[in-house]
Amino acid sequence: MDQRPDQEVVPILDFGSQTAQLIARRVREAGAYSVLVSPDITPAELRAMNPKGIIFSGGPSSTLEEGAPRCDPEILHMGIPVLGICYGMQLACSMLGATIQPSSRREFGRANLHIINHAQFLNAIPERTAVWMSHGDQVEKLDPERFETLATTDTCPHAVVRYEHGGQRFFGVLFHPEVTHTPHGIDIIRNFLYEVCNCSGTWRMASFAQTAIERIREQVGTDRVVCGLSGGVDSSVAAVLLHKAIGDQLTCVFVDNGLLRKKERDLVESTFRDSFSIDLRVVNAEEEFLGDLAGVVDPQEKRRLIGHRFIDVFKSTTSDLVDAKFLAQGTLYPDVIESGHGHAGNSANIKLHHNVGGLPEDLGFDLIEPLRDLFKDEVRKLGEVLGLPDQIIWRHPFPGPGLAVRVLGDITRTKLDLLRDCDEILLEEIVANQLYRRTSQVFAVLLPVQSVGVMGDGRTYESVVAIRAVESQDFMTADWARLPFDVLATISNRIINEVRGVNRVVYDISSKPPATIEWE
Ligand code: XMP
Repeated sequence: MDQRPDQEVVPILDFGSQTAQLIARRVREAGAYSVLVSPDITPAELRAMNPKGIIFSGGPSSTLEEGAPRCDPEILHMGIPVLGICYGMQLACSMLGATIQPSSRREFGRANLHIINHAQFLNAIPERTAVWMSHGDQVEKLDPERFETLATTDTCPHAVVRYEHGGQRFFGVLFHPEVTHTPHGIDIIRNFLYEVCNCSGTWRMASFAQTAIERIREQVGTDRVVCGLSGGVDSSVAAVLLHKAIGDQLTCVFVDNGLLRKKERDLVESTFRDSFSIDLRVVNAEEEFLGDLAGVVDPQEKRRLIGHRFIDVFKSTTSDLVDAKFLAQGTLYPDVIESGHGHAGNSANIKLHHNVGGLPEDLGFDLIEPLRDLFKDEVRKLGEVLGLPDQIIWRHPFPGPGLAVRVLGDITRTKLDLLRDCDEILLEEIVANQLYRRTSQVFAVLLPVQSVGVMGDGRTYESVVAIRAVESQDFMTADWARLPFDVLATISNRIINEVRGVNRVVYDISSKPPATIEWE
């Protein structure tokens, strides 16, 4: 995320914490602009940002270890207020002359904070409140002339400290105010911004859009950008943002692989071509994809074939765009952190990516990823600011391999059409019953099973369809949604009556883990 000198910015030195970007997001939520920077940043570079305050994030290291990430000590003497969180607190305290001691045991989880002095920093925080800890070491031996302990916990004599000397102020918290398990964490961050740093709180998502647009213009110049549109919220927001920045220099590509839901292609065409006047190339590649998939039953093989074909189709569709220098992608911050690419480069790699629908790096384009500092809900806000319709902004995720992993076993056009009909009914009912925004993903799965039924006086032997509905924050874990029985009854009734070839509907009541969200 770029910064502009006229904006109030509170940069965060990222020492490798999984929650560093969450701190940035809390600051933005509170109405100030925030951006992660490398701990190697120089005081001069920081000064050029004209920051109102600086935050040191937590991190997985111990300040007592050889090679633990550090920063220039001068940063603590620039006269700009600094907030240190967990590792950031310990590092700053040690650079300000305190001693750090390894604790006898790692403290992880909830602790009770006991405030001794509210000062401005803990203004209006209850005297006793829960906080979330995750640390090994502790701060000891603080110079009483310069340091004051503002709060303790049962095991930490210095859970919150204030340092004041020669015009420099520093506040340190051993817990994590950025996580929701610290109920007053956001208030503490607000206090830092407004009571300590005197921010005015005028930053909004519209300012992000403006800054991002200017930055894209600078980066792209007069070149062309190609953007693969999937119809999902991330690539849609990225495309519209780019279009606002560079207009006709953007070409979007939407590949109809024959594995889409009903009316999906129409929605993309009408939104991007008709409403936003974006140069959109829609490729009908159904024959090619279904040809590749004929007779294939192994899910990983399906993914591999679809991925390869997608790259081929994308390449041939864009081969005439000789001035295309950039490829835009709707990568979000969680994708960045999950692949272990935090600023300090050492945040743990917690997820391997599904790569279908992605493009390899050697396509010869430079990447533009204007959303790579944002979380999903921030992208939705940005989508609103940019005027995208709710239907796109609130879309449930849809996997790159599409219905290929929802028609279990081998894929035929007939089966895909049958599943599309079931899925349409399901979503109609979910929307009609105001359940779409309350669920994270809802879809139908065609099982490779025939079951016996009775219709009228006759015996039937037809397909079984499973309904999957989940609630999830991050799609790494998910709980099955407790859809009302009446709604399930209507869905089942309608599918069996309206879709020829289905005589049984079942509801999937498995959570992730151990099940996954998709069936394949
Ligand atoms: P699972 O099934 O692994 O899915 O619990 C987690 C989330 O990822 C989506 N998903 C995919 N997305 N390519 C994608 O782009 C894939 O191959 C793929 N497989 C699963 C799934 O829909 C859910 O949102």
